[in-house]
Amino acid sequence: MVWNSGWRLASAASNSGILGLIGAGSMYPEVLREHIQKCKQATNKPFGVNVPMLYPNIQEIMDIIVEEGVKIVFTSAGNPKTWTTWLQERGITVVHVVSSVKFALKAQEAGVDAIVAEGFEAGGHNGRDETTTLTLIPMVKEHIHIPLIAAGGIATGKAMLATMILGADGVQIGSRFVASEESSAHEAFKKMVVDAKEGDTQLTLKELAPVRLLKNEFFNQVQELYKTGPTTEQLKNLLGRARAKKGMFEGDLVEGELEIGQISGLIHDIKPVSKIVEDILSEYESAKKQHLF
Ligand SMILES: Cc1cc2nc3c(=O)[nH]c(=O)nc-3n(C[C@H](O)[C@H](O)[C@H](O)COP(=O)(O)O)c2cc1C
Repeated sequence: MVWNSGWRLASAASNSGILGLIGAGSMYPEVLREHIQKCKQATNKPFGVNVPMLYPNIQEIMDIIVEEGVKIVFTSAGNPKTWTTWLQERGITVVHVVSSVKFALKAQEAGVDAIVAEGFEAGGHNGRDETTTLTLIPMVKEHIHIPLIAAGGIATGKAMLATMILGADGVQIGSRFVASEESSAHEAFKKMVVDAKEGDTQLTLKELAPVRLLKNEFFNQVQELYKTGPTTEQLKNLLGRARAKKGMFEGDLVEGELEIGQISGLIHDIKPVSKIVEDILSEYESAKKQHLF
């Protein structure tokens, strides 16, 4: 997760027994190298790197990933054909993030090792089709034969179990880890996430790259601009540069872009990653006993 998943969050996740991911999307190549190296020092468990493929310096990012010996890459926001074979030839497992059946099929065709299917509830950038996790997972499952990881709206063991009943082999969790002690997000943003209620987020900027945001002053400015029937250029101009950094990393809750999922309405505290994982897994185990057997 951009501006959240640095080496601290990724290594804490891996040390807790799940797969931590470093979010390369908010890092210059050499910053990514530093995070990978620190993560390797902080954990001897596997971890991966998420690479949104819409940035210009992807070759450099991928070279660093290979040089540093990272073994798992999650790609998103781009064509899975471009990098999958190149990464796999270098011994790397590739997981691609999609938000629709159509793109799940494309990813499978491209030869990825697994798919993350992310519903409309999810925080961060998303698809245009507004397909919810509850509907997306079984539909993707119907069409693909490779491992399926569910994402979007999962912050509890019960939700994890629900998506697995629907056909997921695993889950990817974002928003819950924003409100963790190890997330690199600004404390003010984490607090706003904890205070968020149902209805406080919305998917917007569909003409650019659709993104789910907390409703703050910047979000309101976007909505005001929509009333005038803006061009894509006008939307781009309003968004400007570094809005996400301003909001999530620097803590400007007024002018910043604040990415979080709908499930923020169910996140009430900032906890260490190990406690988040422990709580989710114990709830998952007891829900499984209660509901299945
Ligand atoms: C603040 C934030 C930043 C994110 N950044 C990325 C990213 O850089 N690349 C990506 O593939 N997904 C990104 N995501 C999506 C997450 O990886 C994950 O799929 C999503 O958060 C799951 O839904 P949830 O937020 O309901 O848990 C981000 C999500 C959040 C909340």
